[in-house]
Amino acid sequence: MADVSHPEDALGTAVLAALDRVIDPEIRRPVTELDMIRGVDVQPGGSVRVDLQLTIVGCPAADIIERDVHDAAASVPGVTSVAVDVDVMSPAQRAALTDRLRAGRPKGVQFTPDSLTRVIAVTSGKGGVGKSTVTANLAVALARRGQRVGIVDVDVHGFSIPGLMGLTDEHGVAPRPTRVDSMILPPVAHEVKVVSIGMFVDDVSTAVSWRGPMLHRTVNQFLSDVWFGDLDVLLLDMPPGTGDVAISVGQLLPHAEVLVVTTPQAAAADVAERSGIVARQTGQRVIGVVENMAGLVQPDGSVLHLFGEGGGDETARRLSRGQDSPVPVLGRVPLSVPLRAGGDAGLPVVLGDPTDAAAVALDAVADRLTAMGRGLAGRKLGLSLS
Ligand SMILES: Nc1ncnc2c1ncn2[C@@H]1O[C@H](COP(=O)(O)OP(=O)(O)OP(=O)(O)O)[C@@H](O)[C@H]1O
Ligand SMILES: [Mg+2]
Repeated sequence: MADVSHPEDALGTAVLAALDRVIDPEIRRPVTELDMIRGVDVQPGGSVRVDLQLTIVGCPAADIIERDVHDAAASVPGVTSVAVDVDVMSPAQRAALTDRLRAGRPKGVQFTPDSLTRVIAVTSGKGGVGKSTVTANLAVALARRGQRVGIVDVDVHGFSIPGLMGLTDEHGVAPRPTRVDSMILPPVAHEVKVVSIGMFVDDVSTAVSWRGPMLHRTVNQFLSDVWFGDLDVLLLDMPPGTGDVAISVGQLLPHAEVLVVTTPQAAAADVAERSGIVARQTGQRVIGVVENMAGLVQPDGSVLHLFGEGGGDETARRLSRGQDSPVPVLGRVPLSVPLRAGGDAGLPVVLGDPTDAAAVALDAVADRLTAMGRGLAGRKLGLSLS
């Protein structure tokens, strides 16, 4: 609790109340709650000094926080001038803060089967079918519905999520997340907390050469040390296929639900089915199929089926074999120039061009996922290859 040097002074109390509304852009909690306001001093005549303590030296959000603190204090009627003294927390203060943020949770994977966060892994058999695009758009669509959403991008070869979410700079470089001791604060884009392998390696070739154990450690660290706070939904952007990362995620998150993305091409159903089966072997449940790159509506209204038809239905049919309830096709997302352009620009189409047919289809998938709820997540279903 901050010290109000003149507690009798209603102005000090009013300034503190105003500071309650200043949110740390990375941690997403009021600065007052984070013990970042060490004192508010009100002088006769209404000049105010605020002692602000940042979590770490070189905190990238420092300027924003300082400005917001200044503006909040200055907005209080009766305040004539504001000075903000900026300091940095001591290691002990920081440790107390990270402990408090972890809320007594033991270290280790945050998303255990009994956590309230719904975990959805977006996977595919083949590369380039639109997993990352679907992941980014669903995340934003769910966030727009008021859900607290995070994305973990575990695609070693692709890590395209930072770009799709508009987090990369003009050179395509993803930001390094802020660390508060061992706690990693995920950058926030379009109201979604995002962490990606791309934020931790200097160039693509570093991660590409990683083998199983290193990948497993990294995925484990993402799920343990990245501070997401309480999330309603965590989406995982998976690499294509059934490699080491898929196995690690299966082991670390056996209760995850799996969304399989495929194209309308009938031949794609084979490989798409395989990724669903591998997920199931670790206990994960396939909740549905999204058919992406479906027919392109031409200017004359006719539909061009560039990638054929039926791949989504065929994948769903195969994944339904031996299951208690059939795996549904949750949506068909057409080929769309605005969707592709939105991805390139870092503004997902559901936000940038919500009336586009692909955006409408993705929004409908988000609605279906929400309506489904967590359902049977965590329940182990038997695998049948019959
Ligand atoms: N419905 C669509 N219409 C037009 N372009 C699309 C559509 N879906 C995806 N794309 C484009 O296809 C490319 C591949 O998409 P994306 O990166 O999302 O696929 P991916 O499955 O994540 O690939 P990878 O396996 O490499 O991770 C991107 O350039 C994306 O913009
Ligand atoms: Mg991808």
